[in-house]
Amino acid sequence: MSAAIHDWETESIPGGARVARVFSPTNIALAKYWGKRHTALNLPTNSSLSATLADYGSFTTVAFHKDFPKDRLILNGAEQSGGKAGKVFGVLCDLREIVECDDHAVVMSRNNFPTAAGLASSASGLSAVTFAAAHALGLGRDLTKLSEVARRGSGSACRSLFGGFVEWARGQRDDGEDSVAHQVAGADHWPLAAFLVIATQAEKHQPSTNGMEITRRTSPYFDAWVEAAEASVPVIREAVLKRDFEGLAAEAESNCLRFHASAMAATPPVLYWQGATLDAVHRVWELRRQGVQAFFTIDAGANVVVFADPAHAAKTLEGLKALKGVEILQTRVGEGARLL
Ligand code: PMV
Repeated sequence: MSAAIHDWETESIPGGARVARVFSPTNIALAKYWGKRHTALNLPTNSSLSATLADYGSFTTVAFHKDFPKDRLILNGAEQSGGKAGKVFGVLCDLREIVECDDHAVVMSRNNFPTAAGLASSASGLSAVTFAAAHALGLGRDLTKLSEVARRGSGSACRSLFGGFVEWARGQRDDGEDSVAHQVAGADHWPLAAFLVIATQAEKHQPSTNGMEITRRTSPYFDAWVEAAEASVPVIREAVLKRDFEGLAAEAESNCLRFHASAMAATPPVLYWQGATLDAVHRVWELRRQGVQAFFTIDAGANVVVFADPAHAAKTLEGLKALKGVEILQTRVGEGARLL
């Protein structure tokens, strides 16, 4: 995890600016969020539960200054104007409203893993912007409140503020005040090993918001997915709390396959997998048959994340290395967003 600061991350900051620099990790859902009950507020159709990863995420600096004429987002060195910038500016507006401030901000963010390739770069990116902007504006203590702001930026971002195992409640309210994240168990409770099996660095063809909407509107399996997804969360929570690896592996894989099945059955089909995705799935099952405690999950992309019992990490890595044409990044369950 390189925290070295690039020139473009400091050159736009004038004296007198209110600045915060943070690292926020990505998180990978063990019980997925897939479907919105309110699109603008990113209110989910079901609760979800994730593991925060230690080493991969976003390094983000936010600087507010009264002389900035507008908000700006510079991502991995390039000025942004499209959808990603819109989400970031929305978070800035929400926070400005809370503290009643008019200053615009420049946001400089860099990911140390592939962006928009189904590895939750929006989770790390939007949680980092929320955390950094809140600190720069003198907010930043109440993570539950911040999780509500981060959620409006990108749903899964609300979970990255916390480390370890994190639950995001569906909530019942129309304004979303009860749709917030909380920590179920810290990283030390069960520091599972995690492997990112990168089949492609390309940006996914179908952003998750579109994929969710197509699935919700057209998949004949969507209602069944939502019902099963809500039932999954307590099962996964209990498995985490008891450190029941087999229970967690079985439920997390089923949850993942049910989400993808509902998406594939949509019209047009929402299919994120490639050949290498399935190769990794079969490899993990082969490893389990050999007694290695590992399981997979797949977000909205072709890449696969494999979790393993820490004592089985070396055997898992060895098994995954036999896969052709993939890059493997190793990490573990870790801490949430933090100031640098
Ligand atoms: O938060 P979004 O809009 O990037 O959607 C994330 C969706 C999944 O990664 C597929 C599932 C999840 O719970 O993170």
